[in-house]
Amino acid sequence: MSVMYIRGGMPLEGELAVHGAKNSVLPILAACLLAKGPVTLTNCPQLTDVTAALGILRHLGCQVEQEGNTIVVDPTGAAGSAISEEQMRSMRSSIIFLGPLLARTGEAHLSYPGGCELGPRPIDLHLSAIRAMGCYVTEDQGIHCQGRPVGGEVQLALPSVGATENAILCAVGGMGQTTITNAAREPEIGDLQSFLNSLGASVRGAGSSTIMVEGGRPLSGGTFRIMGDRIVAATLLSAAAAAGGRVRLRGVDWRHLATVLSVFHQAGCRVESRLKYVELERGKGMPLRGVPTIRTAPYPGFPTDAQAPVMAALAASQGCTLFVETMFDSRYRHVSELIRMGADITTEGRVALVRGMERLHGARVEACDLRGGGALAAAALGAEGTTVLSGLRHIDRGYEGLEKMLCSLGADVERREA
Ligand code: UD1
Repeated sequence: MSVMYIRGGMPLEGELAVHGAKNSVLPILAACLLAKGPVTLTNCPQLTDVTAALGILRHLGCQVEQEGNTIVVDPTGAAGSAISEEQMRSMRSSIIFLGPLLARTGEAHLSYPGGCELGPRPIDLHLSAIRAMGCYVTEDQGIHCQGRPVGGEVQLALPSVGATENAILCAVGGMGQTTITNAAREPEIGDLQSFLNSLGASVRGAGSSTIMVEGGRPLSGGTFRIMGDRIVAATLLSAAAAAGGRVRLRGVDWRHLATVLSVFHQAGCRVESRLKYVELERGKGMPLRGVPTIRTAPYPGFPTDAQAPVMAALAASQGCTLFVETMFDSRYRHVSELIRMGADITTEGRVALVRGMERLHGARVEACDLRGGGALAAAALGAEGTTVLSGLRHIDRGYEGLEKMLCSLGADVERREA
């Protein structure tokens, strides 16, 4: 088991290109099943979730090559229509393979992705979208789907990111017209639309709550660059806010971070948003201040994935901040670890009250989920003394070489075998 030793108290300084987005590359890898030729994806982050997705593609008969941040998927020989329980469990977003698999082969057999660190993970919206496109779904010791999607009206009860993506993928690989209403508006859905259209699909409306797909168009192979990861950017900005200093991030669109940047601005940081970079500065003698209530919400609201890192930064601030987590049930698991570092935070259900302290101190803490792990690293960089962070398997799901990124900004972080 490896752990990270993080010595806090030094400001972060420097510039970094943020790696590709996990939440974009995963649905795009699943979408490769719909192509008729090899697809080359660049700017792919090297993450354990990506490895798990590649394992599923190989299992289904695709040829996959990965070199650095480039992945080539050749789906020409893919024939399988079942994903094993082990593979479904290896990554909670494995359900994203359902739509393209069904559209490609006319059947799909999957086990449930199961719950996860954030609480239960229902998939009812994914299944009702598949049904709305004319396919049969039975649930008997797993999920069994049959039929060729023929298009239809998909009305999502909630703007679920995964269900929106699954509906798009199923519709693109099927026939007829599909309209998805109450669609999620996250930027990664825009990336999926751009990718599919670059191969010849017709998907319109991503970024709005109505998406229209014209199915039945053959998809060629092609080349596509994955967008930068806005949540990794939010985590690095949280680290800079916690530790102080000046950090410039390239490779992300600041508009995708608008709500997070606004919080840091209100907390007293200098924020500069430009076409090519976003910069955050907190100089000596510029303490963070508590901010008005932060309520997580679907995009363009404040992202649930940035809740933990931003809370970690505001744990050492002047004043109080109230957080309301509206998206997931168990998304305060980092709080008990922040308290070990001296934070004063109380939670009740979906609400957390952070009473800012002057400074946190180093401690032995454990990442219990992906973004909670990023949050603890951010908190440790602003804390006095050394933090020993375990549970790195969660962090490796979504941050490529977190310790290297932080070291390149001047942090003192080391990964060691415990
Ligand atoms: C995606 C992101 C994840 C982010 C989340 C919310 C990926 C790979 N992951 O996850 O990082 O935290 O969006 O922004 O893109 N729900 C149902 N039934 C369903 C599906 C979802 O009730 O069938 C509920 C969920 O329990 C949750 C809410 O809808 O409360 C939003 O979840 P959803 O948008 O689906 O999240 P994911 O796509 O799993």
